[in-house]
Amino acid sequence: MTRRVVLAGAGGYGRSYLREIAELERAGLVELAGVCEIAELDEEARRLIGNRPVAADLPALLAATRPDLGVVATPIHTHAELAAAVLDAGAHLMLEKPPGPLLSSWHALRKAVADRGLACQIGFQSLGSAAVTRLAAAVRDGELGSVRGIGVSGAWSRTDEYYRRAPWAGRRVLDGHPVVDGALTNPFAHAVATALAVDGSTGVDDVVSCEVELWRCRDIEADDTSCLRLRTARGTTVVVAVTLCAERESEPVLVVHGSRGRAELVYTEDLLTMDGHTRRYERVSPLRNLLAHLDDPSVGLQSDVDSTGGFMRVLEAVRTAPEPSRVPDAYLRREGERVVLPGVEALVTQAAERLATFRELR
Ligand SMILES: NC(=O)c1ccc[n+]([C@@H]2O[C@H](COP(=O)([O-])OP(=O)(O)OC[C@H]3O[C@@H](n4cnc5c(N)ncnc54)[C@H](O)[C@@H]3O)[C@@H](O)[C@H]2O)c1
Repeated sequence: MTRRVVLAGAGGYGRSYLREIAELERAGLVELAGVCEIAELDEEARRLIGNRPVAADLPALLAATRPDLGVVATPIHTHAELAAAVLDAGAHLMLEKPPGPLLSSWHALRKAVADRGLACQIGFQSLGSAAVTRLAAAVRDGELGSVRGIGVSGAWSRTDEYYRRAPWAGRRVLDGHPVVDGALTNPFAHAVATALAVDGSTGVDDVVSCEVELWRCRDIEADDTSCLRLRTARGTTVVVAVTLCAERESEPVLVVHGSRGRAELVYTEDLLTMDGHTRRYERVSPLRNLLAHLDDPSVGLQSDVDSTGGFMRVLEAVRTAPEPSRVPDAYLRREGERVVLPGVEALVTQAAERLATFRELR
């Protein structure tokens, strides 16, 4: 069946949706009905959109085009309003992560989805990886023995341009609206969501305690170097230790520490190492999975709104935590467009190995 789709946000990450929709159109699975965008379109966007309507007002565009599905890939602080507009128009929803900037807005979203009987997928694309499904099954079935903990380390580097690209970048609040654009809640949001999925603890009541340690190396409002330690209802300790100020970047690694073995997952590359064997798995994109679910409800959603509740507990803990502490300049180095915290790669790795916070490792 061909579904009519409206996309909100055609630049930034929204461009990947515009390209995917073009690909799905060629496969006959969707038809682009219109695009909501507030910025000027570049040449690629104009070519992909063709003669379809483009508007800055999403409710008006939805009323004019009556799509089956709305994709929202706009900044975090716009999610609640634009997601509600899609659902109010009676369309299914594909919403980029995080689902919203507040736990209360997530509860409202969850209720709106349930009340209307519509489908809502959240764009945690790592959860569409068969590597995650395989590892979660191994944890659930005790293949690794009892799980002492799950640690994730991430060391990426962002340039000045990353923070210049949009007014909300690196902000905790913008014009009075919560944004929560920190390392744990945006660039490494998948690290948190994947660890919870591997533990089978994605629900809002599955996270029973949550400590966050937020640091910033840059002169931004939000955190760029952070450590989270939470405990899940099944008794697992999860540590996520990440930085956006690495000297040497590498892909994030999720480690499951089991009494009978250890597993390592590189969730950005679908690579899973268990029993010393490394295998690359397939993945299905969140939009394709949503379309498959709409065609056949027995196909489960990879990341429905309910199963982002545990993640939202973490986001709320970050949002309400004290302001990030500034790392003193003496520890930092500037390299062109980058701010570097030498030695941070070893620190995040240690935190994930020992399930410890940065302060405990000092
Ligand atoms: N899944 C992933 O791997 C991934 C990666 C990057 C970003 N994201 C998510 O994608 C979303 C967008 O992030 P970004 O970094 O691309 O943001 P951005 O600010 O760089 O760009 C978003 C696009 O939305 C447009 N836009 C802004 N406000 C709008 C509005 N009210 N109506 C219509 N269009 C509007 C902007 O003009 C821009 O084209 C965020 O939720 C972010 O967390 C996800």
